[in-house]
Amino acid sequence: MASSRRRRVLSVASECAPFIKTGGLADVVGALPGALDPLGWSSRVLMPAYPAVLEKVGRSRRLWRDPDLFGGPAVVRTATIDGVSVLLLDAPHLFDRPGGPYIVDGHDHADNHVRFAALSWAAARIAIEGLSDRWRPDLVHAHDWQAGLAPSYLKYAGSRVPSIMTIHNIAFQGIFAADQLDRLRLPAWDFTPDALEYHGHGSALKAGLVHASRVTTVSRTYASELATPEFGFGLEGVVASRRDRGELHGILNGIDTAVWNPETDPHIHSYSASSLAGKAAARRALLHEFSLADPVGPLAVVVTRLSHQKGIDMLLAALPRFVESGGAVAVLGSGDHHDERTLGELAARYPASVGVGIGYDEPLSHRMYAGGDLVLVPSRFEPCGLTQMYGLTYGALPLVASTGGLRDTVADGETGFVFDDISAAGLAGALDRALAMWADQPAWKRMQAAGMASRVDWAASAAQYASLFSEVVA
Ligand code: ADP
Ligand code: GLC
Repeated sequence: MASSRRRRVLSVASECAPFIKTGGLADVVGALPGALDPLGWSSRVLMPAYPAVLEKVGRSRRLWRDPDLFGGPAVVRTATIDGVSVLLLDAPHLFDRPGGPYIVDGHDHADNHVRFAALSWAAARIAIEGLSDRWRPDLVHAHDWQAGLAPSYLKYAGSRVPSIMTIHNIAFQGIFAADQLDRLRLPAWDFTPDALEYHGHGSALKAGLVHASRVTTVSRTYASELATPEFGFGLEGVVASRRDRGELHGILNGIDTAVWNPETDPHIHSYSASSLAGKAAARRALLHEFSLADPVGPLAVVVTRLSHQKGIDMLLAALPRFVESGGAVAVLGSGDHHDERTLGELAARYPASVGVGIGYDEPLSHRMYAGGDLVLVPSRFEPCGLTQMYGLTYGALPLVASTGGLRDTVADGETGFVFDDISAAGLAGALDRALAMWADQPAWKRMQAAGMASRVDWAASAAQYASLFSEVVA
């Protein structure tokens, strides 16, 4: 450790497991504090107090208040679940409403830009003023567009507190109309293409990419992809300019092995690489749960948001041949209604070998990694991806597209199957390879053992965050 005093980081995000989760962001934000702690960094996570979160936690101490946070009063309270503590931004006029964190009845909340600007504003004020228990961060760590304005608010206030902007997914950018600048307490003088402006609109993510002390993303491959038009979603120029100054870092996500570990997972009968009976039982139970026949080939699982990113259309095209060749598949997903429907149609066509569960179900996701022989991840792009790492750990061989973090975590032919041609044909080819290897059970078992032995915990990556943090506060 560079200094004997413990340093403090305020991590700012729209979701955090186990409080609320819609995807991998929550897993990462929930796990990083525990991984940073032994490295001399104590964290506090600031997130909105959604109703679903308030239901899970009791009343707690108030550490900060603002009588007018973008149109109403707000307080920050502490809350703890399963040893994870967060700061909840309780601002009923912004967060006490039905629906998920971002969406209600299939549509974004119309004022999402205001809701998350308020989160970012509160983060910057806390960094500048400190909390009433005298806690004040040395550094602000902003995650995705919802926290993207925090570095900007720090800068406009003349604060010297440094900030890190982490891109988990550049496809979501927090775009808002130019006439919202005032409402978001942003200065018109900085509404230029070099700062807040993005093709005549504002962008919270771009603001963070420009104003943060450093930019990180969640794998090395994604860091290099991001600077290209194919993956940068219009922000490739901004990313490239930070990269050219040596200010872009690809730090791979890890998985929280306290939560994701087949030896201790309370959702399954425990098993390990040396004793796989529990996995065989989990497979039988999963087949039963999805009303599937025991296949001669492998049982593949898919746990995913249903969106264009995740390549569900490729799955739909490739799966018929896979199941007709002896495979079976269980899918758990929610999101795009068209994908939900077409997956349902595939299950109706192959009732004994395709099972589809629509919805979000955390315990079931654990049972699926445990029961699966393969985890399929045919993403068009994937900043990091966690499901392939859960697959490795649970002995379900990952079969993944060669992009982003998928590429950085799965070794083709050693710990899983990686396909370069990201198309239905490429996916079908990889499924053929998996079927062929299944026929050679000793080879399959070797690959499974290699996957279960691969290190996907946070240790190495947390050390990279800690050294970057130390560098920017120095
Ligand atoms: P992304 O964040 O892009 O959705 P990741 O692979 O990083 O992708 O993380 C997805 C996380 O969300 C994993 O923890 C996965 O198990 C979980 N998940 C996705 N869809 C579901 C679902 N329908 N039910 C339960 N868990 C899900
Ligand atoms: C995003 C990405 C995913 C990544 C997760 C956590 O949701 O889509 O690839 O694993 O963030 O960083």
